[in-house]
Amino acid sequence: MSLPARPRTFSGIKPTGVAHLGNYLGAMKRWVDEQDEYDNIYCVVDLHGMTEPFDPAELRRETRGMFATLLAVGLDPDRCVLFAQSHVHEHAELCWILNCITPVGWLERMTQFKDKSRKQSDRERISAGLLDYPVLMAADIILYDAHVVPVGEDQKQHVELTRDIAARFNRVFGDTFVVPEPRIQEAGARIMGLDDPTRKMSKSDDAPNRSIFITDEPDAIRRKIARAATDSRREIRFDPERAGLFNLLTILQVITNDSNDAIERRYEGKGYGDLKRDLADAVVAHLAPIQERYRSLMANPDDLDREMARGAERAAAIARPVMARVRKAVGLA
Ligand code: AMP
Ligand code: TRP
Repeated sequence: MSLPARPRTFSGIKPTGVAHLGNYLGAMKRWVDEQDEYDNIYCVVDLHGMTEPFDPAELRRETRGMFATLLAVGLDPDRCVLFAQSHVHEHAELCWILNCITPVGWLERMTQFKDKSRKQSDRERISAGLLDYPVLMAADIILYDAHVVPVGEDQKQHVELTRDIAARFNRVFGDTFVVPEPRIQEAGARIMGLDDPTRKMSKSDDAPNRSIFITDEPDAIRRKIARAATDSRREIRFDPERAGLFNLLTILQVITNDSNDAIERRYEGKGYGDLKRDLADAVVAHLAPIQERYRSLMANPDDLDREMARGAERAAAIARPVMARVRKAVGLA
């Protein structure tokens, strides 16, 4: 297999809902910061957005919104391939083939599936797509011969499953796929809810003060941070045991790139009020130019459509030969 000169990365984000600070700090910001180190492919995974009940008009709107968000945070479509998953049919096709070599037991053991299906008391409402979610994700990744998959902590298990699926395929049908590695950064890989630091920040939660969304107005950002849960101790330290404070400090650290020591020194003798005020200022200032670009991208839907179409063409050009290799390996060609 010929490999690109720089290691290839692939990652994806679901379009369901608006991106939050966890998505941004745990995944997107790093995709942007490392654009020149890798041969990058990034995808809005709209087919994954169908695994739980969804509304077609919303799916359409949110897919474009997430595409615009990725551009707004700084992914440069000249330095990466950026596209919507459903525009490249090979994802669904490869997913089917991988389904046929993936044991159901592997899927039933996935934490995300167990969590999501546990929340749904009526089994008749859990779709086969939800169980199959990680197989589609495996198809996304190995369809591009990706070496590295930069994700937040919550996706590590899915990338490991991808490795197992790719390795099994290679064993059964001969060397066909690159076996990828997850890459999870140290700080920010798991941003927690502001109201409750035992739950991760997420798009789908109804708790109004849990998540800061990329498109939140400054007032909303300030309010959520002011109300964030902390503890009754005083000194400001990076202590994972003090989960609420640790989360706020982590957000500040990843946004400012200051060292933990420098941050702790800055808050010697100061209180949570000071920290929260500074953090709110930092988040508002960091998001302002992103929000500005987002608004301008959304105001020009034709340009956005053109960029999506161009991304899909470039992605398909990479995916097609890999799919041809797969068809041959399994006897479909
Ligand atoms: P999703 O919104 O589930 O499609 O996730 C998109 C990316 O954001 C994935 O790489 C996730 O691992 C990452 N991510 C989601 N939630 C968080 C969080 N609370 N903290 C850090 N990373 C996250
Ligand atoms: N499951 C990932 C998430 O929820 C999104 C995703 C889909 C993805 N396909 C992918 C991430 C491929 C990395 C690589 O975050």
